[in-house]
Amino acid sequence: MAPPTRLTSYADWSPRPRLGSMCGIVGYVGPKQAQNVVIDGLRRLEYRGYDSAGVALVVDGQISFDKRAGKLANLEKAIAERPLPASTTGIGHTRWATHGGPTDANAHPHLGQTGRVAMVHNGIIENFATLRARLEMAGHELRSETDTEVAAHILEAELDKFGDLTSAMQAACRQLEGAFTLVAVDAQDPTKVVAARRNSPLVVGLGDGENFLGSDVAAFIEHTRDALELGQDQVVTITRDAVEVTTFDGAPAQGRRYHVDWDLSAAEKDGFDWFMRKEIFEQPRAIADALLGRHAQDGRLQLDEVRMSDDELRTIDKIIIVACGTAFYAGLVAKYAIEHWTRIPCEVELSHEFRYRDPILTRSTLVVAVSQSGETADTLMAIRHAREQRAKVLAICNTNGSTIPRESDAVIYTHAGPEIGVASTKGFMTQLVAAYLLGLYLAQVRGTMYGEEIGAVIRELGEAPDQVQRLLDEAPAISDLAADMREARSVLFLGRHVGFPVALEGALKLKELAYIHAEGFAAGELKHGPIALIEEGLPVFCVVPPGGRGQLRDKMISAIQEVRARGARTIVLAEDGDEAIAAYADVVVRLPKVSTLLQPLVAVVPLQLFACELASLMGHDVDQPRNLAKSVTVE
Ligand code: F6R
Repeated sequence: MAPPTRLTSYADWSPRPRLGSMCGIVGYVGPKQAQNVVIDGLRRLEYRGYDSAGVALVVDGQISFDKRAGKLANLEKAIAERPLPASTTGIGHTRWATHGGPTDANAHPHLGQTGRVAMVHNGIIENFATLRARLEMAGHELRSETDTEVAAHILEAELDKFGDLTSAMQAACRQLEGAFTLVAVDAQDPTKVVAARRNSPLVVGLGDGENFLGSDVAAFIEHTRDALELGQDQVVTITRDAVEVTTFDGAPAQGRRYHVDWDLSAAEKDGFDWFMRKEIFEQPRAIADALLGRHAQDGRLQLDEVRMSDDELRTIDKIIIVACGTAFYAGLVAKYAIEHWTRIPCEVELSHEFRYRDPILTRSTLVVAVSQSGETADTLMAIRHAREQRAKVLAICNTNGSTIPRESDAVIYTHAGPEIGVASTKGFMTQLVAAYLLGLYLAQVRGTMYGEEIGAVIRELGEAPDQVQRLLDEAPAISDLAADMREARSVLFLGRHVGFPVALEGALKLKELAYIHAEGFAAGELKHGPIALIEEGLPVFCVVPPGGRGQLRDKMISAIQEVRARGARTIVLAEDGDEAIAAYADVVVRLPKVSTLLQPLVAVVPLQLFACELASLMGHDVDQPRNLAKSVTVE
């Protein structure tokens, strides 16, 4: 059985918020063959991204490199066929694409204009479009679509000025906005590797006569367990015998030294017992990433991946959301928000049902496909059908370059990073964020909301990472609840309005992980039949709408009373300050105060934790539940 969570360990060593999208990065300087150390490190980090990989080495005043689209195995095969020269200084990258699809050209490392520096990057540089335009005006020739190449060119230009990679990195970082970890080498200086971080992870591995850099300790754990964690906005220079940390302004700074006592497999999961639990705890970062770069300079919302003109978006007279499973529940939440904000009629349909009922589709129908993997066959077939009927298709997807976004007219990427646990958690969370952004964007384009109203929702979304973090900090209470309910053989979930899809999601998580009967109902539906299921001691989770919509809350309380009167044990999720709710609850789980439409962002977190915890206690494989697969690529 998996050990219970050590929740405090995450907070202990992980700076918060941990922003920046996924991708794995490695750096090495020491006596060993850098190529081997870097590739081994990348293999340990491949869970962070696996759509392309690359390595760069400093060899006789030159950068020698190779990079390939696809899994690390493609790069390894290429290097086995055409070995790179020997070198003891190198960097490497395994990519989870953000800017630009997963191609050889977009794979890292990226070189500067003259090829003197090589750089790898994890994160999103928000002002890259402005910087790129500036470089192009100055005659720079950029070979990829990435924001990283822009940073590499800037770094090389600064290196020409300063003559030293550390000072050049400091100067480059002062020009960049967003979230980034950068790691670079200078062809003319094989003694060092220089890295920097802002809102994106980076740790230094402290060896004996050798030093390492990695996105996390998994990159170097087989060589050393002594590590140095860098603070925000710091630059680090590693040589064989020294590690020097500064601020972006060049002032001396210090990292935090610590000893890693995990084994390799735990290190890949950042010390968590399950990928799923790790992914639940990554949600604050994932939400922040999903929101990153969505503002134009004039404060308006921008979704630059949506390659549809405002005129096209204004002609839409119906939206149909297609998705399966958890993504379908995200779609149900989206319907409430999109209809409320845009007044466009919005249907939500299971992808596998959609195509076979001859749906009414026209050129002015927007079909929104929600899919974490981007490979779900049912959803893919649904969008193919929609496009045959001339409808426009927009994908909300987490996997850059996957089939669904490739076959769509537009895409909003959710930027959650790879989701390894079969049960979707951060995928769902970021699908919600993307759906809200889509609703607000349509409202902006069609003028159904004032700019100030849109700004207020965006600001509230910006608070979600901290609110979710607060719920995660209270996870031990959910563990206790799960321990208390170990014997439960059936659990019900009730919600109203957007709380209804949350109830469905809570039930699905429990079914797929704990293998027990679980059902979600719209609370108002109870009296039309399901109430017959209630019996003495049956646990019923109740998602109470925020008080702002008084009527909804009061109706929910009626439902809670109905089940309590029949012996149910109620676990009530209610917002802070709703003291009166205690009278209706056997257990109260407090949620941060948010507006009604955004409540799913917080309400789902305790339900995810509960399912993960109960399944762990029952001794189940949380990451790979029986009978399930992560990507369902068959119809
Ligand atoms: C449940 C779960 C599944 C997926 C569904 C769709 O935890 O993960 O229900 O949500 O199979 O998958 P995607 O989003 O990849 O299309």
